[in-house]
Amino acid sequence: VRRVTIPMLELWKRDGRRLVMTTAYDAVTARIASPIVDVILVGDSVGNVCLGFDNTLPVSVAMMNHHVEAVARSKPRALLVADMPFLSFHLSIEDTIRNAGGFLRRGADAVKLEGGTKRLEMVRALVDCEIPVMGHLGLTPQSVNVMGGFKVQGQKADDALRLLDDAHHLQEAGCFALVLEGIPAELAARATETLTIPTIGIGAGPACAGQVLVLHDLLGLVEGRRPKFVRSYVDGFDLLQTALSRWAADVREGAFPSADESYHLPESAGPAVAN
Ligand code: KIV
Ligand code: NA
Repeated sequence: VRRVTIPMLELWKRDGRRLVMTTAYDAVTARIASPIVDVILVGDSVGNVCLGFDNTLPVSVAMMNHHVEAVARSKPRALLVADMPFLSFHLSIEDTIRNAGGFLRRGADAVKLEGGTKRLEMVRALVDCEIPVMGHLGLTPQSVNVMGGFKVQGQKADDALRLLDDAHHLQEAGCFALVLEGIPAELAARATETLTIPTIGIGAGPACAGQVLVLHDLLGLVEGRRPKFVRSYVDGFDLLQTALSRWAADVREGAFPSADESYHLPESAGPAVAN
């Protein structure tokens, strides 16, 4: 099957074909997602979704490497983007290139990093090293402490203008796409209209060139309150737990395993034994 490439994304935006991106963190979730979506993101959301952290700040490059490798081993058809975790693109250009290059060596096609004008130097340095970069603006979860929580961004006129300015600077710096998270739909529409690179929205309304949701949110695997931009298509937690409880009941009743689900000595496999 033909792999998705970065030049395809811009063509699709021009043709009005909406991009579909979701997250995967291991080979199983990548195999579920890859035939369906255009882009797979190994998000630093792995921290809260899979690793039990309250936010994405504790996620390290070593943790991300582990998950990028697992997803890459599934050889996805979808474009594979690795998220740069907190402090992996802040310290120096050299450190940033080494971290991002490490993701590409592990099989990622591109990296994503949060932030606007402050991060332009790092974006340019990566693009100069042939490392494709996806930007990420708005409610950027690595800024949770500065934002004072997970709050919608860009609602005040000057914040909205700054976001548009950041978006255009990221495009000029060479980003091939831009995630817009937790901003008014009208602002995301304006960004989408005025940029040539595709925008990929999450809690950013329907006008974006594409949409992204965390896989475990889509599949109903995350417990607790969900933000309103999440649409769950299955109560996966309930579904899987019900299946597990049926197996547990079978074990407790002695109904698992059956003879067919067991190995037998050769001498017991006579004509009377169904196999
Ligand atoms: O880490 C993540 O899952 C993300 C997406 C929600 C865009 O950054
Ligand atoms: Na992320």
